[in-house]
Amino acid sequence: MRTSNWIRMTAVCVALVAARGAGGDASSRFPRPASINPLYAEGYTSYQLRCAPCHGETGDGSGAIGRLLAPRPRDFTSGVYKLRSTPSGTLPLDADLARTIRRGVHGTGMPPWCPSLTDGETQNLVRHLKSLAARFGREAPGVPVEVPPAPPGGARDIETGRRIYERMSCSRCHGDEGRGDGASATALRRDDGDSLRPRDLRARGSIQSGDDPHDLYRALATGLDGTPMGVVELTPDERWALTRYVLSLSDGSAVDR
Ligand code: HEC
Ligand code: HEC
Repeated sequence: MRTSNWIRMTAVCVALVAARGAGGDASSRFPRPASINPLYAEGYTSYQLRCAPCHGETGDGSGAIGRLLAPRPRDFTSGVYKLRSTPSGTLPLDADLARTIRRGVHGTGMPPWCPSLTDGETQNLVRHLKSLAARFGREAPGVPVEVPPAPPGGARDIETGRRIYERMSCSRCHGDEGRGDGASATALRRDDGDSLRPRDLRARGSIQSGDDPHDLYRALATGLDGTPMGVVELTPDERWALTRYVLSLSDGSAVDR
């Protein structure tokens, strides 16, 4: 999706959510069920007001607006999150969930909440999200993967990254030039069965993990759970070269082929 579309859709969605919140005291309009721990009351109310229109009251992704979105919000009750600092298959840290809430998810209906929520409000929401999946009561979050400092790099590094991209068959899904048009691209599905195409990696803002190269390095090391994008098993230097190559596709520094 183009950035302008995303901005427009986000504005529409935020307006709809705001409309839900207009007038009256939120806690009286979304009374807390007796089953909710009073300590979590603020997060519960804030979630019902701001998040439930998309994510659904129980977090199953079936909110009235959420059902219209592509990609749809995923089911929080499974505890599977794609944007994490922790290894594939493990639970995210609180900080990972807070980062997603602050930044939103580029190129989807998930808006950035950074200017409108305080740190305390964000933490309350994190606590509420965790209460929606039984896994958080049973398992500890994973140990964050290490993101080593970027080695000095240049055009040679980008060329090394390009060769790794070829060797690891990234093009099967992402296409030879990262346009998202690989042979398998149209057959991919998320773990909830929705179809999902890789984005055009040459478009600015296409990386949802974050704007910093370290965010992309981390995403390649952790994989995007719940999607066909798995962990890229490489040495740190190789993974940095691949990170630089992927970034070069959108920042104009790509080597000629
Ligand atoms: C306008 C619709 C919309 C609203 C409002 C919204 N979200 Fe989302 N959210 C989405 C969509 C769509 C995704 C799925 C993105 C994807 O999987 O590609 C998402 C994904 C997420 C993720 C998961 C990302 C991951 O790692 O898998 C979190 C966490 C999240 N939202 C939290 C929230 C919270 C908390 C609120 C309320 C403050 C909220 N969202 C409000 C649409 C919305
Ligand atoms: C089986 C198909 C498949 C293969 C193979 C694959 N990817 Fe992906 N990749 C995807 C899909 C699908 C997404 C989009 C996930 C989403 O939007 O939720 C994705 C997302 C990405 C992203 C965006 C991450 C972000 O934070 O937005 C990058 C970068 C990426 N892939 C790089 C690679 C590289 C490099 C390789 C090879 C080592 C590779 N992919 C192999 C399917 C694949």
